[in-house]
Amino acid sequence: MKHLISTAELSREEAVLLLDTAEDMAATQARAVKKLPALRGITVVNLFYEDSTRTRISFEAAEKRLSADVINFAAKGSSVSKGESLKDTAQTLHAIGADAVVIRHPASGAPQMLAERGWIDTPILNAGDGCHEHPTQALLDAFTLRRRLHGSASRGKGLDGAHVVIVGDILHSRVARSNVWLLSTLGARVTLVGPPTLLPSNTDRWPAETAYDLDSALEQRPDAVMTLRIQAERMHDAFFPHTREYARRWGLSTERLARLDERAVVMHPGPMNRGLEISSAAADSPKSTVLEQVANGVSVRMAALYLLCSGVNEGRE
Ligand code: CP
Repeated sequence: MKHLISTAELSREEAVLLLDTAEDMAATQARAVKKLPALRGITVVNLFYEDSTRTRISFEAAEKRLSADVINFAAKGSSVSKGESLKDTAQTLHAIGADAVVIRHPASGAPQMLAERGWIDTPILNAGDGCHEHPTQALLDAFTLRRRLHGSASRGKGLDGAHVVIVGDILHSRVARSNVWLLSTLGARVTLVGPPTLLPSNTDRWPAETAYDLDSALEQRPDAVMTLRIQAERMHDAFFPHTREYARRWGLSTERLARLDERAVVMHPGPMNRGLEISSAAADSPKSTVLEQVANGVSVRMAALYLLCSGVNEGRE
């Protein structure tokens, strides 16, 4: 693995290695001194062309806990506003000695371009590209679910036999795409639920079932319900008649929460639209893993950075 662009390209062995390494990282985070020397001398650039709270902060925390030197680049306030291209930005990062790049970009495929075009020869970690993929989000979701299902016996395991319902704005969701590939690689069954307007037309080629009716999907007693944010910023059309109608048919209401199995968990990648795709009762319930997902994000990103970057300076003077 040189880059982490997409979960579709991860083998089961690679995915389990990432999750097991994240378990090792999580164990170090319970210590009084959380910092490890693993990436000392390595410069990681966080290149964010889109807003972020969780991903940006947890990548930065992960890098610092591995003792990397961290450079934060936000497109707002940079020369991107003067028209500088991704190529010129990448070459600038190369010139200042970046050893790894974490990139979030509104264009699907931007991390792949950085990895393939040779403008900069470092590991590239995709922190979310357009509606394409968000691999570290899916890895932290799988890590969270694996811990809930297997507890301290998680190491070496996948998610065989688990059933995950992903409900909401699948069309615009890079989280859904990365989760579909990773969950199926790890042996889980995935059901995608949403209004027909928010389900992509090519899901017949995805390793997932699709449905329009959330209540019927919940009758199958899934192990996890992952609610997705309605991405209003990517919608240039009316995809449903009214937010009240959406919440009534596809929202995880208090009443639907009460019908879930005792062991079932409620997941959301954040940020949440409370009262739309998820009720506050569901978001704040003991079933909710929302804050566990955020905390696990640091361990998972430490694992990804460690596995991709710890050898980059080998052979250099
Ligand atoms: N889940 C997620 O990607 O959140 P941010 O946009 O806040 O990083």
